[in-house]
Amino acid sequence: MKKILFAASECVPFVKTGGLADVVGSLPKSMDPKKYDIRVIIPLYHAIPEKYRDRMETVYYFQMDNRIYVGVKKLVMDGITYYFIDNEQYFSGLVPYYDMFQDLERFAYFSKAVLSALPLIGFRPDIIHCHDWQSALIPVYLNTVFQGDPFFRGIKTIFTIHNIRFQGTWNVGHLKWVSALPSECFKPGLLVSPFQNTDYPENEWNASMMRGGLVYSDYITTVSNSYAQEIQTPQFSDGLDDILKWRNNRLWGIINGLDYSIWNPSTDGKIAQNYNLVTLKKGKEANKMAMQRRLGLKEDGKVFTIGLISRLTDQKGLDLIDQCMDQICSMNINLVILGTGDRRYEDMFRYYATKYPGKVSANICYSDELSHLMYAGCDALLVPSAFEPCGLTQLIALKYGTIPIVHEVGGLKDSVKPYNQFEQTGTGFTFHDYSGWALQDRINHANWVYYDKPSYWKEMQKRGMKEDWSWTNSSKIYADLYEK
Ligand code: ADP
Ligand code: GLC
Repeated sequence: MKKILFAASECVPFVKTGGLADVVGSLPKSMDPKKYDIRVIIPLYHAIPEKYRDRMETVYYFQMDNRIYVGVKKLVMDGITYYFIDNEQYFSGLVPYYDMFQDLERFAYFSKAVLSALPLIGFRPDIIHCHDWQSALIPVYLNTVFQGDPFFRGIKTIFTIHNIRFQGTWNVGHLKWVSALPSECFKPGLLVSPFQNTDYPENEWNASMMRGGLVYSDYITTVSNSYAQEIQTPQFSDGLDDILKWRNNRLWGIINGLDYSIWNPSTDGKIAQNYNLVTLKKGKEANKMAMQRRLGLKEDGKVFTIGLISRLTDQKGLDLIDQCMDQICSMNINLVILGTGDRRYEDMFRYYATKYPGKVSANICYSDELSHLMYAGCDALLVPSAFEPCGLTQLIALKYGTIPIVHEVGGLKDSVKPYNQFEQTGTGFTFHDYSGWALQDRINHANWVYYDKPSYWKEMQKRGMKEDWSWTNSSKIYADLYEK
């Protein structure tokens, strides 16, 4: 039996801001429990609901480096053991992330605390599987500060990139201070880019925690094949293409899967009416009307309804939607938005909701419940991202018979097959050029097929619903990697 520890900053059902939490919550459950004992460790945020906190037991507490408190709590749920690193000073806020400056210190602490706790909690993993920059220092600490301790000898590490845009970057002086890592880690080529401008004093060079994870881990993965290729180019790598090219024989692209016990229209308890391939039309109409009632839109089961469920950040292609809004709203279309994020995008959607009342519904909030109803009630889902490592919303949409309209990039390209009207193939509308015009063209096409060729539309829905985007395939690839 292989023992594996997932270290991450979020995990469903405890705390979620994006797809990272979905993946960390669902991948361990998809692995064969007879072969793998997979446990998960995350910070004990105050944001974790009471109903879980109340059931946790304290496993151990100690002073790390004789000065900082580390508590370790534990909860076993659905066959998975979850550990939580407790420290009020760092994790008592209402949200998991603050600003980058504070988060660097909080997650450097978390990474070191994870390793420091292992000898004390009775779990020695064969592999530590780290996710994104918040746990990227684990491989660095393991191969430096903790190297002398026989307990840690032979533990392997995997680092998974969910989003290369966020790296935990600051100047060397500050990162040295928050991490207390030895100076040798900050040589160019390690936590520091080899292309630093040497005119600056060393302490002012930029250092990146994610770069550390990429340099010091045994294997690197990312969440789709296309993204694995893209991040080896300067256009997509945010300055890390040198290391990714250098280590590309250790870089695997493995597409994410979904937990179909959560995301399945025939069993989903959060939607108005369950449906399947046979009851698709009626079921989606009933959900659409329930959604319209809930959001104060006119009840009309037939109106073409497009959804957007997204963090509202530059990554997500919202500038393209801005360029198209007036034209979209001149059509017989409803647009339902669910998201939070950058103020300027939140205000942009609020503005359009005021400009086009009854057509645009802007829900600037986080709501798991509403997201389920939207996946079921919308006809199409927009995912025009500038870059998208994997993307889960288009995968969920496919399962719910909601046609994705996506930019051909990263995981979107790997999961949505372009619609071909002549051959009657494909599962969504895709565009190549990152432009408002290209997006508008796909929306026009979708609108035409929806209203004028309903049988084609229905066949496309069915093709998507029949596909398998569960973890079945990808968990086998992770198993191959764990065996290596
Ligand atoms: P990312 O991780 O970049 O945000 P993904 O597509 O991988 O993008 O995952 C987004 C996840 O978060 C999906 O499960 C989606 O349903 C969910 N989500 C995003 N925004 C909201 C929101 N405002 N309310 C509820 N769920 C949301
Ligand atoms: C990141 C990416 C998203 C991916 C998710 C889970 O947040 O932006 O594309 O699906 O991680 O891997």
